[in-house]
Amino acid sequence: MKLAVGLACLVGSHLAATGSLKSKAKLEKRAWATSEPSYPSPWMNPNAAGWEQAYQWAKDFVSQMTLLEKVNLTTGVGWEGEQCVGQTGAIPRLGLRSLCLHDSPLGIRGTDYNSAFPSGQTTAATWDRTLFYKRGYAMGKEARGKGINVLLGPVAGPLGRMPAGGRNWEGFSPDPVLTGIAMAETVKGIQDAGVIACAKHLIGDEQEHFRQVGDGFDIDESLSSNIDDRTMHELYLWPFADAVRAGVGSVMCAYNQVNNSYSCHNSKLLNGLLKNELGFQGFVMSDWQAQHTGVASAVAGLDMTMPGDTVFNSGLSFWGANLTVAVLNGTLPAYRLDDMAMRIMAAFFKVRGTQDVDLDPINFSFWTLDTYGPIHWGAKEGHQQINFHVDVREDHSRLIREIAAKGTVLLKNEGALPLDKPKFLAVIGEDAGPNHNGPNSCDDRGCVGGTLAMGWGSGTANFPYLVTPDAALQAQAIKDGSRYESVLSNHAMETIRKVVSQDNVTAVVFVNANSGEGYITVDGNRGDRNNLTLWNGGDELIKNVASWCSNTIVVIHSVGPVLLTDWYDHPNITAILWAGLPGQESGNAITDVLYGKVNPAGRSPFTWGATREGYGADVLYDPDDARVPQQNFTEGVFIDYRYFDKHNTRVIYEFGHGLSYTTFEYRNLQIQKHNVSAYIPTTGLTEPAPTFGEHSTNYSDYLYPEGFHRANRYIYPYVNSTDLELASGDPYYGQTADQFLPPNATSSDPQPLLRSSGKNSPGGNPQLYDVLYTVTADITNTGALEGDEVVQLYVSLGGPDDPKVMLRDFARLHIKPGETVKFEGKLTRRDLSTWDVTLQDWVIRDHTKMVFLGKSSRKLVLGALLN
Ligand SMILES: *[C@@H]1O[C@H](CO)[C@@H](O)[C@H](O)[C@H]1NC(C)=O
Ligand SMILES: *[C@@H]1O[C@H](CO)[C@@H](O)[C@H](O)[C@H]1NC(C)=O
Ligand SMILES: *[C@@H]1O[C@H](CO)[C@@H](O)[C@H](O)[C@H]1NC(C)=O
Ligand SMILES: *[C@@H]1O[C@H](CO)[C@@H](O)[C@H](O)[C@H]1NC(C)=O
Ligand SMILES: *[C@@H]1O[C@H](CO)[C@@H](O)[C@H](O)[C@H]1NC(C)=O
Ligand SMILES: *[C@@H]1O[C@H](CO)[C@@H](O)[C@H](O)[C@H]1NC(C)=O
Ligand SMILES: *[C@@H]1O[C@H](CO)[C@@H](O)[C@H](O)[C@H]1NC(C)=O
Ligand SMILES: *[C@@H]1O[C@H](CO)[C@@H](O)[C@H](O)[C@H]1NC(C)=O
Ligand SMILES: *[C@@H]1O[C@H](CO)[C@@H](O)[C@H](O)[C@H]1NC(C)=O
Ligand SMILES: *[C@@H]1O[C@H](CO)[C@@H](O)[C@H](O)[C@H]1NC(C)=O
Ligand SMILES: *[C@@H]1O[C@H](CO)[C@@H](O)[C@H](O)[C@H]1NC(C)=O
Repeated sequence: MKLAVGLACLVGSHLAATGSLKSKAKLEKRAWATSEPSYPSPWMNPNAAGWEQAYQWAKDFVSQMTLLEKVNLTTGVGWEGEQCVGQTGAIPRLGLRSLCLHDSPLGIRGTDYNSAFPSGQTTAATWDRTLFYKRGYAMGKEARGKGINVLLGPVAGPLGRMPAGGRNWEGFSPDPVLTGIAMAETVKGIQDAGVIACAKHLIGDEQEHFRQVGDGFDIDESLSSNIDDRTMHELYLWPFADAVRAGVGSVMCAYNQVNNSYSCHNSKLLNGLLKNELGFQGFVMSDWQAQHTGVASAVAGLDMTMPGDTVFNSGLSFWGANLTVAVLNGTLPAYRLDDMAMRIMAAFFKVRGTQDVDLDPINFSFWTLDTYGPIHWGAKEGHQQINFHVDVREDHSRLIREIAAKGTVLLKNEGALPLDKPKFLAVIGEDAGPNHNGPNSCDDRGCVGGTLAMGWGSGTANFPYLVTPDAALQAQAIKDGSRYESVLSNHAMETIRKVVSQDNVTAVVFVNANSGEGYITVDGNRGDRNNLTLWNGGDELIKNVASWCSNTIVVIHSVGPVLLTDWYDHPNITAILWAGLPGQESGNAITDVLYGKVNPAGRSPFTWGATREGYGADVLYDPDDARVPQQNFTEGVFIDYRYFDKHNTRVIYEFGHGLSYTTFEYRNLQIQKHNVSAYIPTTGLTEPAPTFGEHSTNYSDYLYPEGFHRANRYIYPYVNSTDLELASGDPYYGQTADQFLPPNATSSDPQPLLRSSGKNSPGGNPQLYDVLYTVTADITNTGALEGDEVVQLYVSLGGPDDPKVMLRDFARLHIKPGETVKFEGKLTRRDLSTWDVTLQDWVIRDHTKMVFLGKSSRKLVLGALLN
């Protein structure tokens, strides 16, 4: 990967920020989407709501730091340099140890005595804000217990544009409101536990194919996600705005390019949208090896490079010594480095809630489960105890079971459920049983075998145990005095036929479909799924069992929708459940739902289309001759149900669908309008860029200290030589800011505030969150069982380019039989606005608007005009 800051001057100002050697190709392809420049990089605002105290503490700390110390904080020590998947340099003089950044969004990756939580997508299916928060808090506590300072989650990118996208399950839902609420609650949970959350991946990171050069694809640069401005605001950026508003401390930029500028040095994205418009006060870190330039990424808004080296184990860095040199030679203004350090330390103090920087030690090593080994794993240096096997699980298993059960969606039920002491329970399919090599047998879960409880890739954790459906259902059957047999195979058809064609059998068939991250290929799937059908002959298995048994119940563990078209309406298929990726308590949770110990109320966080084509957008599997694969988001805001609704395409189960063992009635829709003052665009200027502390201009002060031991391939902030060019080794060394950076990239002048931004309010103009209407209704449980109902509030904005309906709010209500509970939903100004690309602000258009309360996106029970 030969990339440099230098050459970009050849290709015009905005491409300076892309700065790759291959940029020449772009000259011939000017028709491609481009990204407009946005400079300078915004500096922190001392008055930003929720950050005031943290800013002051950060200022105290950063003002004491030397240039080398600041650089240390911004630069990872290199792949395998320390124990965590990413670590910064330390500031020993001021008592701050190296910060530990670690995966994943569903637990702690690669260690032991941790919990394996349900996936984000399964959690989204609970539609329960309290559970979103509790899961975040529990994961944050576990992370803290291991010594982790930044937990790399939650995920809103991928959002789920294409159902086959490999990592959709790590996030929540293709609906931006459901995802946004889940992001905000998860962020609050993680950070209340004292760990910095990381909203990732910004942005358009919707597929695994071509996300990086070097995954075995013959391309010159990563895929470019070409996203228009309206779609960016109304869809992909929306949940990130919620995360920023919730006070998220860090954001991770993505591998892919956006409009042909790499996400991690796309100034429009990082400076313009994230820091200016949304007023993000925390720090932006690169995805691992997603940084491709030095100074250009710094002025475009990147604050921390991870894992620090240019490519894994190269021993070289775009920052580290290069960042020191860039400040000393005057190319990068000192204020930008100060701002990076401020943002990192402010996030740190905000979340810790104290000025004290004395952190508990990191007590695990990601690279091994051995108790003793090298602390510098890559260098094989520093042999010592590196794993203390601290048990951080507490009683989280109960929460995990609750989320998994409450996130299970009952798609179909013809009276077969709940089970009540069935005479003979037959459980069929590999997905009901264990992986015979153990639940953690494949690194990062990159294989098939046994019941599916998480996908594969970096978004995983080791299971402390995995309760299989077979084990849990057998225990229940024995308790009930049922007969029980399981055939944990998808292919032993003759045996299966003999079992399920007996009299009075209740057959439960378990099937799955998996996906994951692109660096692992499983059964020919390079992260993204190749198809939307079940894996390992699942469809054949279901169809066969249904042909032999008139009471066939299907349970699906999957990473998203699968095509049910062939069999969902088979008369012998009496129930279908989607159990998502439930985590360690899988079997217990599905038993709770099948037996009615938990009355199901999960709602599908995505659409189950009748065909793959029905979804519109799809994974780009073939770059054709494009040296830089182009993924045009031409469907705009129309993904998932919005696309199906627009084209009036058949769905099997719609977004928001899910059944219960009881029934609910909706009555008495009321809409209360609030007296809210008219929207006032933000105006004014920022302060000029501040600097914190002085730095020596004597280059000798930046040399490796006398007698300093350098670990092999470890990234340090020090220079090699007082000849800065030698110390840098940048083949294009010597270019001044004027020569290769866009206009104003290094300006420290006061900058105009964007009208859509909040003067002192992270998340955008605070008036966007004014509640304009409150919507209420009476929800009555008309059945015989206690249960939860998820009431969904949709709007129709009425314009020719607007989706038919869009989710705007929801509540999961617990209601006893015969009881009535009031639903209350809110509509904010943002909820009723569209993004005006000319004005560069949100506006409420004149079209006739409607409000609906529904049981799903297509079962709108009550509706009214919005006046
Ligand atoms: C994306 O758009 C560009 C420019 O409009 C076009 O050249 C390219 O063929 C499109 N790519 C795909 C995959 O449609
Ligand atoms: C990408 O290009 C589109 C179309 O020109 C534009 O509307 C949008 O603002 C650009 N986005 C970024 C992040 O550059
Ligand atoms: C930078 O961090 C490394 C450890 O990652 C530490 O050895 C070194 O002393 C730090 N340098 C400074 C100037 O703080
Ligand atoms: C500085 O960055 C350049 C690329 O911009 C790289 O070639 C060089 O090796 C880096 N120097 C160090 C000391 O890491
Ligand atoms: C099936 O159940 C019915 C009703 O309980 C019973 O009459 C019949 O004997 C059962 N058959 C078998 C084989 O158990
Ligand atoms: C879809 O992919 C899965 C996993 O690779 C495979 O098991 C299945 O056979 C495929 N389905 C079809 C119809 O090819
Ligand atoms: C339903 O199951 C019964 C056995 O109980 C079988 O005879 C019948 O053919 C099945 N129906 C279908 C449509 O396969
Ligand atoms: C620079 O620092 C070195 C080492 O601290 C010292 O020997 C030298 O005199 C200094 N040079 C100047 C010009 O101050
Ligand atoms: C440091 O300097 C030595 C010789 O002066 C050189 O061989 C080496 O490559 C340099 N290291 C880096 C990271 O630039
Ligand atoms: C300053 O240092 C940076 C980082 O090594 C380098 O890319 C740039 O070309 C240098 N600029 C000058 C004017 O020396
Ligand atoms: C640079 O900044 C000045 C002053 O803020 C402004 O007038 C000018 O339009 C900016 N230039 C560009 C290219 O953004």
